Amino acid sequence: MKRRKIFAGNWKMFKTYSEAVELVNGLNAGLKKTEGREYVVFPPSPYLREISSLCASSPFETGAQNMYFENQGAFTGEISPVMVKDCGASLILIGHSERRHVFHETDEEVNKKVKAAITHGIQPMLCVGELLEEREKGETVSVLNRQIRGAYAGVEKSDAAKISIAYEPVWAIGTGKVATPEMAEEAHMSIRAIMKELYGDDIAAAVPILYGGSVKPDNIAGLVKMENIDGVLVGGASLEVKSFLDIINV
Ligand code: 13P
Repeated sequence: MKRRKIFAGNWKMFKTYSEAVELVNGLNAGLKKTEGREYVVFPPSPYLREISSLCASSPFETGAQNMYFENQGAFTGEISPVMVKDCGASLILIGHSERRHVFHETDEEVNKKVKAAITHGIQPMLCVGELLEEREKGETVSVLNRQIRGAYAGVEKSDAAKISIAYEPVWAIGTGKVATPEMAEEAHMSIRAIMKELYGDDIAAAVPILYGGSVKPDNIAGLVKMENIDGVLVGGASLEVKSFLDIINV
């Protein structure tokens, strides 16, 4: 089955405005588009509108790194799904490990954000992944089960098809310790098995599952040739034009 392939860069809380513009201009100039691949950048929210307009006539789509689930209200410091859309973004990262572990976001909040994104026509990219201690205790699959079942609770099958998943083992994020292609493949197969239990064969076969965690130009080739790895979500190496182009042009 032919699945969507998504190559994405999460800029996290990096870059000044002028650096962000320089980065996106460099990416737009150097991208060698491969048929069937989708490209996304997740800039910091103050630059989302400008970066979205710079990408409007390019193959890059944009997404926000986080949002609150209410449409509006007295929620100082938050941004809403309405604002994300208004800035021209078409995707939203939900449940990134830094949201879960630094800001203590729960599976229940992740679920509310997934539903809010769907209501507003924003594609959720759901991030899941285990801590090192959870992997060492053999709990990887149960963590994935809990995170995925929590995120999709009450989500209809027709809406489940709109969500992509990024498997980002927490121990591999920003550490230089990439999961081997075989480890990532095994986790992606577990995710597909959970999706099969929840929504059946067709959704399980169609859901794009990206790998994230220390993806670099020198390890991308091994990752993308795995059957169940449908793209990558890149942090550090997406912050420089050359290294991100070396990854997405692979
Ligand atoms: P690194 O590529 O810097 O490990 O970050 C991965 C990540 O968290 C992407 O969302």
